[in-house]
Amino acid sequence: MRFRNAVVFVTGGAGFIGSAVIRHLLDDTQACVVNIDKLTYAANLDSIPQAAGNARYRFAQVDIGDAAALRALFEQHRPHYVMNLAAESHVDRSIDGPAQFIETNIVGTFTLLQEALRHFRALDVPAQARFRFHHISTDEVYGSLGPQGLFTETTPYAPNSPYSASKASSDHLVRAWRETYGLPTIVTNCSNNYGPYHFPEKLIPHIIIKALAGEPLPVYGDGRQVRDWLYVEDHARALALAVERGTVGETYNIGGRSECANLHVVTTICRLIDQIEPSASGPREHLITFVADRPGHDRRYAIDPGKIERELGWSAAETFDTGLAKTVRWYLSNRHWWQAILEQGYKAERVGLAPQAEAELRARVHAFKA
Ligand code: NAD
Ligand code: DAU
Repeated sequence: MRFRNAVVFVTGGAGFIGSAVIRHLLDDTQACVVNIDKLTYAANLDSIPQAAGNARYRFAQVDIGDAAALRALFEQHRPHYVMNLAAESHVDRSIDGPAQFIETNIVGTFTLLQEALRHFRALDVPAQARFRFHHISTDEVYGSLGPQGLFTETTPYAPNSPYSASKASSDHLVRAWRETYGLPTIVTNCSNNYGPYHFPEKLIPHIIIKALAGEPLPVYGDGRQVRDWLYVEDHARALALAVERGTVGETYNIGGRSECANLHVVTTICRLIDQIEPSASGPREHLITFVADRPGHDRRYAIDPGKIERELGWSAAETFDTGLAKTVRWYLSNRHWWQAILEQGYKAERVGLAPQAEAELRARVHAFKA
């Protein structure tokens, strides 16, 4: 049985992908899981229904930037694996308020690396041979592709948003902690995820909840930007394989070979919802509204997942068609999950047009001149 007698730290385990990883570890392996999460706006402990009363699950409300709290957790639980998914993850929010992205994604990862290294150094040799620090990253670190080509593990980094720049920085820190201090690290870079329990600021759940409310469906720019979609449960399986069987020091790109233009994604969601719940006002495609583009909007992402397929035997189980249909059905059958988020104050408004960043810049220029 996989992860026998293993303690796994999952940071960001109350988020979209972290919760999918924990559901997989609890359902399909013998791992004991410690979910370490600060509980930001993006967190939701209801995303792990199997955690209730599970003797293999612990939760700690801790910021990965809090060295003392992390040290106490390492001493208490003595993990065999650390999977770092804690992050600020939304590109639009990073445009308006980059500071928190620097704090969590860079300084937080640095703090976690330091505490993991301290723990690693105190282990005996067999325990050191088993220990892994797995950093979960994104394809956005590679920047934007033209119409042809795929991101591979050797594509040079060229991040374009405050979010992707902060993720790229954290990837570099992880590399340096391996090269300089010998911490056994693995990095994975994945494409866009979608599926159940996805906070409704991201494209797919955003469009589903707006379509159900009969509200305008915002498509940024011309809607021809391409993303490479992966069902979140496929990603969770890939991550568990990578931390357990991946080679130390290696990077694995993860993707579903499912490129799709945003406008096509939005149109398909409208058709899927219309089939299940037709609207008296007619087809929901009429709600599609082109709005101002995202500043610095990357045009195309596409992953070559050949390495993880060949070396770890992973492949995506869902196609984009099957995964998207499942996702739409999930949002229709689990309205309580996302309606609670709306009731707690999330307004699904447009963000990321940079007023806050402009204000920060004006304040800095003013301070510099004074
Ligand atoms: P998410 O925003 O849904 O969840 C992030 C979680 O991290 C939340 O539960 C939040 O409370 C927690 N968190 C934030 N700051 C923290 C801190 N300082 N200390 C402890 N916990 C903190 O994000 P996600 O979509 O699940 O992404 C998880 C990871 O995967 C991120 O590193 C992201 O960059 C990466 N990633 C995401 C995607 C995607 O499509 N969503 C694709 C590739 C990679
Ligand atoms: O590629 C991996 C990345 O995918 C992850 O690292 C990020 O954490 C994750 O948020 C995601 O980033 P994107 O910026 O690609 O995802 P988002 O859902 O915000 O947007 C997807 C595309 O849809 C993007 O081209 C912007 C566009 N969009 C988004 C929203 C919210 C719209 O056209 N309208 C919208 O309302």
